[in-house]
Amino acid sequence: MHASTLLLFSLSLLLSTLDAKIAKRPFGQTAQGKPVDLYTLTNKNGMEAAITNYGGIVVALKTADKQGRLADVVLGFDSLDGYKKEHPYFGALVGRYGNRIQKGQFALNGKTYKLANNNGPNALHGGLVGFDKVVWTAREVPPNRLELTHTSPDMHEGFPGNLNVKVTYTLTDANELQIDYEASTDKPTVLNLTNHSYFNLAGQGNGDVLKHQIRINADRFTPVDSTLIPTGELKAVKGTPFDFTQPHAIGERINQTSDEQIKFGGGYDHNFVLNKTGSGPALAAEVYEPTTGRVMQVLTTEPGVQFYTGNFLDGTLTGKQGKVYRKRYGFCLETQHFPDSPNRPEFPSVVLKPGETYRSTTIYRFSAR
Ligand code: GLA
Repeated sequence: MHASTLLLFSLSLLLSTLDAKIAKRPFGQTAQGKPVDLYTLTNKNGMEAAITNYGGIVVALKTADKQGRLADVVLGFDSLDGYKKEHPYFGALVGRYGNRIQKGQFALNGKTYKLANNNGPNALHGGLVGFDKVVWTAREVPPNRLELTHTSPDMHEGFPGNLNVKVTYTLTDANELQIDYEASTDKPTVLNLTNHSYFNLAGQGNGDVLKHQIRINADRFTPVDSTLIPTGELKAVKGTPFDFTQPHAIGERINQTSDEQIKFGGGYDHNFVLNKTGSGPALAAEVYEPTTGRVMQVLTTEPGVQFYTGNFLDGTLTGKQGKVYRKRYGFCLETQHFPDSPNRPEFPSVVLKPGETYRSTTIYRFSAR
C-alpha cells in the first residue's frame, strides 16, 4: 500500500472510532425468564453511558476528569442480579409517581385512589413494582439514542388510566446525557417521572460525596414532616443549611441536626423549588468535585429537584467492581414535580388528562476544570 493511502486509511480508522456509536449486549434475564440487554452509548469524546432496558437503569456513566481520564461516576451493579434484589433505585427510571404521596392516597375528580404504602405510612416511587422494575421495550436510534417504551395498564399499582410512556436517552457530543420523557393516558391520572441516579464525581465507590461543592438554583424548598411529606410551605432557604444559592460543600452543614429539616431528612432529602426562567430546560444545579475537577450541571424543565445525599446507604450493598457503598457515597438530583402534589392543589399540577401529552426533559451535562 502506498504510504499516503495507508495514512488516509489509518486516519479514517481513527476518525471512525471517534464517531458516536451504540452497542448492545445481553445483560441477563428477569426472575420470569425475560431477557434484558445493556446498551452502551459512546460519544465522539469517548464518554460512555450504559443503560439497561430493565427499569431503564443507567448502569454506568464514564466521564473525563480534568486530565481527560475516564471514570464511572454513578453507583450501581456489574450485573442484572444486583438490580433484581432490593436496592435504593440506583440509576432507575422512577414512575408512575416519583417521590412520596401521603398515606398512599389521593383523590381525582371525586374518586379516591389507594396505593401501596411502601415507605412507612406513605407511598414512594411508584409502588411495589414501579417503572424501575419493569422491562421496557428498547429501540436503538443510531448514532446516539436509546428509546424506551412501556405501557402501564389501567390501575397498575393503583393509578388510573392506560399510560403509554416513552423515555429517550441521548448522549450528545457535548458530553450531556439528556433524558426526554413523554406520556399519554386514556383516563385522567397523576404522573411524576424522574431518574434516580446516584452520582459520585470522584468515581463510584471512591469515598463519600461530602467534599463535592453544590449550587442549587432555588431560593425556596418544601419543608417536610417527620415522614418526609411536605407541609405545604414554600420556605426561603436564606439563613438555613438549605441555602445553596452560592456553592457549598455538601458536608458543610449536613449534620446540623439543630435544624429540624436536616434532622427529619437525616441530612438532605428535600425538594427544592427551582427559580424558573422560561419554559425550556434551565439550570437546576451544578456540582464540582475538587480532586478530579469534574463538574456536573443539571438542567430541567421540571419545577423541582429532590436533593438526596444517600443518607440511607449503610455499607450493606456491594456495587460495581466490589466497591462497598457506605453512608453518603452518592448524591441524587431527582428532577421532578413536588412530592405529594396530588394532595396539594396549591403545588404545580401533576394531573395528565386524555388528549394531553406529558413532556419533560432533564440534561446531565459533564465537564472538568
Ligand atoms: C428518594 C427518597 C429517599 C430515599 C431514596 C431511596 O430519594 O427521597 O428518602 O427513599 O429515594 O432510598
